[in-house]
Amino acid sequence: MTTWGLIGSGKIGSAVARLAVAAGDDVVLSNSRGPETLADLVAEFGPHARAATPVEAAEAGDVVVVTIPLKAYRSVPVEPLVGKVVIDTNNYYAARDDHFPELDDGSTTSSELLQQHLPQSHVVKALNNINFLHLAELARPARSADRSALVIAGDDADAKARVTQLFDRLGYGTLDAGPLHEGRRFQPDTPAYGIPYFAPGADLSKVDAARGIMPPSSPTTAADLTAALAAFPA
Ligand SMILES: NC(=O)c1ccc[n+]([C@@H]2O[C@H](COP(=O)([O-])OP(=O)(O)OC[C@H]3O[C@@H](n4cnc5c(N)ncnc54)[C@H](OP(=O)(O)O)[C@@H]3O)[C@@H](O)[C@H]2O)c1
Repeated sequence: MTTWGLIGSGKIGSAVARLAVAAGDDVVLSNSRGPETLADLVAEFGPHARAATPVEAAEAGDVVVVTIPLKAYRSVPVEPLVGKVVIDTNNYYAARDDHFPELDDGSTTSSELLQQHLPQSHVVKALNNINFLHLAELARPARSADRSALVIAGDDADAKARVTQLFDRLGYGTLDAGPLHEGRRFQPDTPAYGIPYFAPGADLSKVDAARGIMPPSSPTTAADLTAALAAFPA
């Protein structure tokens, strides 16, 4: 059994935690306001869940998911994450996160910023390009004909292998997009961002993730993701 530490327990963090609990794993949830504000979620998840501070969640997790607004990434505790696999779901939206010049000019990526902040952790970019509703809907047991894949990127092969095992437990296959820098291929405004999981023919003009207006989901294979990554202009 794995203990997942969640730094951030909002839409995507709680969706990940729900899948982990369904797989029989333990989750330690945290947010910015304090463990008491997570009581309802903990009650919903049952005995496999508890709430804590971000430092405690980082300490407790065998794997830790950082799933907060990017602008807060420097608040992620460093020391308790030394040597650990850290899954980074974060996306950069300048309107929400304020401007990061090094992201605006494309010289680095949001996950590489987190890796710089956590130099002794093994950051794997994942779960950032699937809406939380679709993540919940598309999970399937192993060997299901309509199982979907999740794309990952990271600089440590062992960390990516571990994440692949964990995602299998959550109900997903995995596609390795390469080193962390290749996360640029599935960041916001790329062909691989969200769209592969939309039902075919979805009217993209009506999508409004902030207001929860999303098209129906559609199972998405590793081959589908490979094609979307390849459509990113080099
Ligand atoms: N929504 C999606 O479908 C989706 C999908 C993929 C990736 N993402 C990305 O994943 C990240 C999280 O998105 P979300 O939609 O889950 O956001 P959200 O619903 O707004 O939740 C954000 C969570 O982060 C917590 N948080 C904020 N600052 C924190 C800090 N300094 N330390 C610890 N926790 C902190 C918040 O806690 P408080 O409420 O207590 O402040 C909340 O639990 C974003 O970067 C987003 O772009 C989102």
